[in-house]
Amino acid sequence: MEEKKIKELIRYALDMRKMSYTPYSHFNVGAALLSKDGRIFTGCNIENASYTPTNCAERTAFFKAVSEGVKEFDAIAIVGGPDGAGPEGICTPCGVCRQVMSEFCTDSFLVICAKSEEEYWVKPLYEVLPERFGPKDLLS
Ligand code: THU
Repeated sequence: MEEKKIKELIRYALDMRKMSYTPYSHFNVGAALLSKDGRIFTGCNIENASYTPTNCAERTAFFKAVSEGVKEFDAIAIVGGPDGAGPEGICTPCGVCRQVMSEFCTDSFLVICAKSEEEYWVKPLYEVLPERFGPKDLLS
């Protein structure tokens, strides 16, 4: 993927942190999901007083896309850190979000974990979630 596209996704993800609803953790995460048809679906984390209903930024982005009929993706950018500051480190996706990626994405789907447009790493899904259990295990 072109560096320019990666930086654009990171910019979208950084911008989404403004929308995070995080009265409990004060840890704001933004995500930007690129679909194969070139659209960008953004997401933020949304917490809940009962804690477990909390939705991560990555899943918000995926569920927005899937609920609009989009199910094929190329990449996701993720940024996160304490509220009120730029990310101080690189935020990686939780296991539940990796499993949601696994449902809709091929091994070559790119996971971009960023601190800024300059500092990030990119790995294919097969490295981020090796030996994954997915649709192929049930639908073959
Ligand atoms: N969070 C995400 O949104 N994505 C991740 O990949 C890691 C964690 C959120 C969930 C919760 O609102 C906050 O970060 C602290 O765990």
